[in-house]
Amino acid sequence: MTHVIIDTDTAQDDCVAILVGLLDPRADLLAITMVAGNVGFEQQVANAQLTLNVAGMLGRVPVHAGCRRPMLREWVSATDVHGDGSGGLSMQSPDAVVDDEHGVDALLRITAERPGEVSIVAIGPLTNIATAVVKDRGFAARVKSLYVMGGSNNGRGNITASAEYNFYVDPEAAQIVMEAGFTDLHLITWDPLTLRDATIARADFDRLGAIGTPLARFFHTMCTATLDYDESVGIDGSTHPDSLTIAALLHPELVLADAQYRVDVETASALTRGYSAMAWDKFGLAPNATVVEAIDSGAFFALLEDVLRTPTQPDVPITGL
Ligand code: BDR
Ligand code: CA
Repeated sequence: MTHVIIDTDTAQDDCVAILVGLLDPRADLLAITMVAGNVGFEQQVANAQLTLNVAGMLGRVPVHAGCRRPMLREWVSATDVHGDGSGGLSMQSPDAVVDDEHGVDALLRITAERPGEVSIVAIGPLTNIATAVVKDRGFAARVKSLYVMGGSNNGRGNITASAEYNFYVDPEAAQIVMEAGFTDLHLITWDPLTLRDATIARADFDRLGAIGTPLARFFHTMCTATLDYDESVGIDGSTHPDSLTIAALLHPELVLADAQYRVDVETASALTRGYSAMAWDKFGLAPNATVVEAIDSGAFFALLEDVLRTPTQPDVPITGL
């Protein structure tokens, strides 16, 4: 079993990543920590609770509210991409409580209780992870593996020409994490990896949505707004970088190619804010990350399908499902 914490800005593909964390037999999901990112903070918490609910696991995994804004910058939302990230779904539940402990303190405590045993999947801006690094210099050494969705590998950005959203929103945090000395830091990038290997064509997306389980309906409803957005900007399918990030941790056999890189994140330039400079071995720099370069798409999509086929009973009714 892989003991894992998901650090997330929950909307759309983050929800799918949480489903993988809840339902993949290899995963032992210990906590969800929330970070400012995609949509309004309270909406993100609601989206995470909605995801626990559709899996029939409301109240079984703690949700911790973490940092509510980036370290230095103003928050930048992605509501233009994701809407509110819920696909219009909602629920009323007294069980949907947020844990009293701050997300950063939860990261520090859980890794202190089990040093070297817990991995973190960070699929939002890196504010919580960087704050944990700053608060406790021993944190990085206690984390077994850190899998980050962020940056592009000498490719296109998505919020600007040069920057991927998670690194753009909090570039200082991203750079702190790159320099923190994590034992095993893996990066899942936007371009080329997500665009080439983790994008589900609409026909396949519709087929998955028609499987007939509550999870499949949830997936289709939750991800349609983003698919519409993706198509409007020339991306031919539904993008799933966040669920790929946890899948790569749980199933390393999915990774067909990776390499060691020296990765740094641009913090000084306004034009290229959040750009990830990924230097490969030619440049002779000491590597700080393993960058995933190719994955087995067919196996990844099959894994998602397995998750969506899981029969679940939502704990409370979901309006709109
Ligand atoms: C990343 O930004 C968010 O909008 C997605 O959830 C993903 O983590 C892609 O750039
Ligand atoms: Ca995300």
